[in-house]
Amino acid sequence: MKRSKKRILCVVGTRPEAIKMAPVILALREAPWAEVRVLATAQHRQMLDQVLNVFGIVPDVDMNVMRPNQSLPELTARLLGELDGVLAAEDPDALLVQGDTTTVMTAAMAAFYRGIPVGHVEAGLRTGDLRNPFPEEMNRVIAGRLSRWHFAPTASSEANLLREGFAQSSIHVTGNTVIDALIDVVARDLPPPTEVAADERLILVTAHRRENFGEPFLEICRAIRTIADRHPQVRILYPVHPNPNVADVARARLADHPRITLCQPLDYLPFVAAMKRAEIILTDSGGVQEEAPALGKPVLVMRRETERPEAVEQGVVKLVGPVCEAIVSATDELLQNAEAYRAMAKGVSPYGDGHASARIVSILHRDLFD
Ligand code: UD1
Ligand code: UDP
Repeated sequence: MKRSKKRILCVVGTRPEAIKMAPVILALREAPWAEVRVLATAQHRQMLDQVLNVFGIVPDVDMNVMRPNQSLPELTARLLGELDGVLAAEDPDALLVQGDTTTVMTAAMAAFYRGIPVGHVEAGLRTGDLRNPFPEEMNRVIAGRLSRWHFAPTASSEANLLREGFAQSSIHVTGNTVIDALIDVVARDLPPPTEVAADERLILVTAHRRENFGEPFLEICRAIRTIADRHPQVRILYPVHPNPNVADVARARLADHPRITLCQPLDYLPFVAAMKRAEIILTDSGGVQEEAPALGKPVLVMRRETERPEAVEQGVVKLVGPVCEAIVSATDELLQNAEAYRAMAKGVSPYGDGHASARIVSILHRDLFD
């Protein structure tokens, strides 16, 4: 039977996908032409549920695939194996994926096998190095190749896609939906974090990248400890990602320090509150590189490469690498040199204006009713 509405299946697997897909789901719910369905692969379990709760989203299908310390091959195989049946049952007119996780790569592939058109939200981010970040660069290249709509956050991501030969008509510069989510959350009542005293200077840390496992992550831990030792007025708050490859090491190396507070991953609201309260943010996360500049917070990125060059070019994010000496000296500079600090705390938002989801929904509407 022919449907009067178009069925759009939105796929989410991990915390950042849910944060960035939530505004699209909410915007599609308001569109009279759309029947929005939410598929949670649950590649992440607790961290995914946290975010979906914040935005009042209940998945229509939950694959519950997460296993403790899952390997990339087993996760990929489990997802691909199960996705085909779900897509057959859901029979969507279009499928949306966000970002560059294993969920994204496998969902795009499963949709391709069934001839379902794919929209890639946050398309065109590239470092040009397939192993950095690993495996995300490969995931987004494959997802891009399989997509009909490329929703690129910036002109620079659009340029990457044009260089790879994608048709201009398939690329739409929308801004990043993370700014839509951030604007929604910042408008809510956000009590400041209780872990930090009023007279303490807060440094917020996150770290989880696979290419940093092992020695680079030990360097990061050495840097965090050195910063805490050198600056008695500093409190370091580090919500630890549950991946045991980082969680076990972070606890062993840092938990005993009196001014380093390790905690469970924070819900999105308290995390945004912590970003607002922080003086400096040290991270290897993708999303935090987009949110923190919008909040006027200097970010030191503990990675060798970034696919988000815009904020670096504007001088509000600095790439320091997972290198103890570089992390410590850049942090020292920001803590001690007010002018250097002001230069990085300009409050620019190169990643969006808060209307990315509305643009995505209107492009889908136009193309699906052509
Ligand atoms: C994944 C994504 C990465 C993304 C990150 C966001 C892949 C390959 N990696 O990395 O691109 O930046 O999510 O955080 O897609 N775990 C829990 N509870 C949770 C979530 C994770 O216990 O809610 C633990 C489990 O032991 C799990 C492990 O973390 O096996 C790894 O999860 P996984 O999604 O495979 O990798 P991440 O490192 O989280
Ligand atoms: N975040 C959160 N709680 C935390 C740490 C991060 O809600 O304790 C949010 C953060 O604001 C950002 C997203 O999670 O929107 C980033 O997720 P993550 O670093 O796990 O993944 P990445 O962006 O690197 O893919």
